[in-house]
Amino acid sequence: MPASVRAATAAPNLPGALLAGLSDFVAVRLGLHFPEARWRDLQRGVTAAAAEFGFADGETCARWLLGASPTREQVDVLASHLTVGETYFFREQDSLDALGDHVLPELLRSRRNGGQRLRIWSAGCCTGEEAYTLAILLDGLIPDPAAWNISILATDINPGFLRKAAEGVYGDWSFRGTPDWVRQRYFRKRQDGRLQLSAHIRARVTFSYLNLAADVYPALVNNSNAMDVILCRNVLMYFTADQARKTVARFRNCLVDGGWLVVSPAETSNSLFPGFSPVEFPGAFFYRKSDGIGRPIESGPEFIQTPPAAEAPDPWQPIAGTGAHQPGRPMSVACRQAEPHADDAVEPPGGAARRCANQGRLAEAFDWCAVAIAADKLDPAHYYLQASIEQELGRTDAAVRSLERALYLDSGFVLARFALGNLELSQGRRRQAERHFVHTLALLRGHADDELLPEAEGLTAGRLAEIVGAVLASLPREERSR
Ligand SMILES: C[S@@+](CC[C@H](N)C(=O)[O-])C[C@H]1O[C@@H](n2cnc3c(N)ncnc32)[C@H](O)[C@@H]1O
Repeated sequence: MPASVRAATAAPNLPGALLAGLSDFVAVRLGLHFPEARWRDLQRGVTAAAAEFGFADGETCARWLLGASPTREQVDVLASHLTVGETYFFREQDSLDALGDHVLPELLRSRRNGGQRLRIWSAGCCTGEEAYTLAILLDGLIPDPAAWNISILATDINPGFLRKAAEGVYGDWSFRGTPDWVRQRYFRKRQDGRLQLSAHIRARVTFSYLNLAADVYPALVNNSNAMDVILCRNVLMYFTADQARKTVARFRNCLVDGGWLVVSPAETSNSLFPGFSPVEFPGAFFYRKSDGIGRPIESGPEFIQTPPAAEAPDPWQPIAGTGAHQPGRPMSVACRQAEPHADDAVEPPGGAARRCANQGRLAEAFDWCAVAIAADKLDPAHYYLQASIEQELGRTDAAVRSLERALYLDSGFVLARFALGNLELSQGRRRQAERHFVHTLALLRGHADDELLPEAEGLTAGRLAEIVGAVLASLPREERSR
């Protein structure tokens, strides 16, 4: 047996207590499940990360990870050695048929006369093949793309994967199992033999970093709110049962009423999806946001509501014990009726506005925001929220005015300054955008890296500084210096 194979298959030799501690650390920070049977993989991952950190061996690295408080970037390095980057275009054809033949056409039909908006999220997108597959599917379904406001968000924890995704250049391996027409119609062969995706498809997907194990979604700030469809395929299977449940619950809050969650066939489960109704398509089960007791919230197309196939493996079942259906939080019927909180306090208008915005009920969100502003004209957070809603509604100028008002009331409002930069950038006004981003960085210097920023829904100052730095670095040189 070659030495490399021997090393890879050898039993782990790090102390058991250390691997157990590392396994707990990885479960909390990344959601990843490394039971004892997978400690060999865990050891291999930490040993590879050790080389990148400059440690002599995996044991020293593991002790350091557990003893120090590693930064998010350092945890990302570890993640990049523990996650599986397996993906390809048009993976799991049955699911794509269900999307392309039923779910997406129905959504497009229902939106054609109102809003023409569609929001899709590929969560755990790896190197981008899944998100681009969705963009290609939609390209075939929408004859008039300019008339639509389509958002395809693609997120991952591995910055290396995200960089590769944004380039849109792939080798043959990314096309195993992909129909030929996809290559022919949407890719161009480069001199090095690799395939370059058409620019118009590339432009339809936005890639960004998001750790699904962190409680940072849904949030307007990372654009994870009001989703119509979330694909999270071949990701939950690597999570601990607890993290998989939390992730699914957060996805539910990210979805609009009647929205769809798509996992891989191996991830269907009787116990993991409370608050969703399983819907059967040929060869695939999808989960549709329901009212928590199994009824789909919206009357939609006549899909077959049925429990997942009994023989489908249920990786989370043993932990649930009973496998009984757990009712989720009851859905609000209409945002107009402010709901009582658990403590019987009436929800404040700002909270109702945010909740409606997260649900994609933008007109109601806007109305609630107006109520909040009328009640307190001097709260800059209300104007920031109003700007987010206006932006979603495509009222860019109004959004700029709301942000300016928020900054007039609080000139140190970091998120408002950053949002203004993004808005200017989206309008092609790069010089103005650059000014706002530089200003944002200056404001961030007044905050500790680990400080949670107001209105940022879990985002720390350090993380925002990285994001702003990356955006600034990506602005074209000639535009920046003009
Ligand atoms: C096997 S790939 C799946 C790719 C694609 N969804 C598909 O089905 O083809 C799993 C992806 O999940 C990502 N991932 C793992 N843990 C994550 C986490 N905590 N947050 C976000 N992404 C994560 C990995 O980096 C990897 O890109």
